[in-house]
Amino acid sequence: MRKNIVAGNWKMNTTVSEGVELAKEVNAALKAAKANCDVVICVPFTHLCPVAAAIDATVLGLGAENCADHKSGAYTGEVSAAMVASTGANYVILGHSERRQYYGETSETLREKVALALENNLKPIFCIGEVLEERENGTFNEVVRCQVEEGLFNLSAEDFGKIVLAYEPVWAIGTGKTATAEQAEDMHAFIRGVIAEKYGKEIADNTSILYGGSCKPSNAAELFAKPNVDGGLIGGAALKCADFMGIVSAF
Ligand code: 13P
Repeated sequence: MRKNIVAGNWKMNTTVSEGVELAKEVNAALKAAKANCDVVICVPFTHLCPVAAAIDATVLGLGAENCADHKSGAYTGEVSAAMVASTGANYVILGHSERRQYYGETSETLREKVALALENNLKPIFCIGEVLEERENGTFNEVVRCQVEEGLFNLSAEDFGKIVLAYEPVWAIGTGKTATAEQAEDMHAFIRGVIAEKYGKEIADNTSILYGGSCKPSNAAELFAKPNVDGGLIGGAALKCADFMGIVSAF
């Protein structure tokens, strides 16, 4: 059966030394109180090596927040999937709405990134979600269906089985406005149905679908209690060990 996962997305926050301290704190907290789910932190590229050295990979997974859509070569400033993997990281967030919105990522570039991540044994945490206007005009299911189909449905069933999905309604990110547990459950069940149409029920049932968007200790338990919500992708609340652990302990 699918795994429950709580993953932090640190975004563009913390210096290297602050990040290493935070990672050590989370690592120590997980050693002190064993989590009932997988726990992952996704950190800036600069932090990957020192954080990998500071944590115990058996209690805390590590990921990047992005990777390049090319294998290697003359792409100044880019960081490849192979480079990310060589730090010891085993996850990579792909298609975050901030990347789609501010850096023009399209389904086409994301298909390249997903393929390179998988080639390098990185587990993609693939993000999807509608903007407020699409929530309000009722097109949100179709928007999310398109993101899943265009970004991922070129994959073989075997490769699709390595993907973690994160539903992050853009209107709930960093706004303090969480989707209700019912809204999250409805969308997650819809996404699982879309996966089942393409890959069959077994693969759909084995796919972890995380919720992201103003998830915090006070609302995590209600969200995670829903049958199709398999954990969270946590932004702001992942930057404080106590808050992050408060969410982890909702499982
Ligand atoms: P917040 O938890 O800060 O709303 O961010 C969610 C997110 O974008 C995680 O990827």
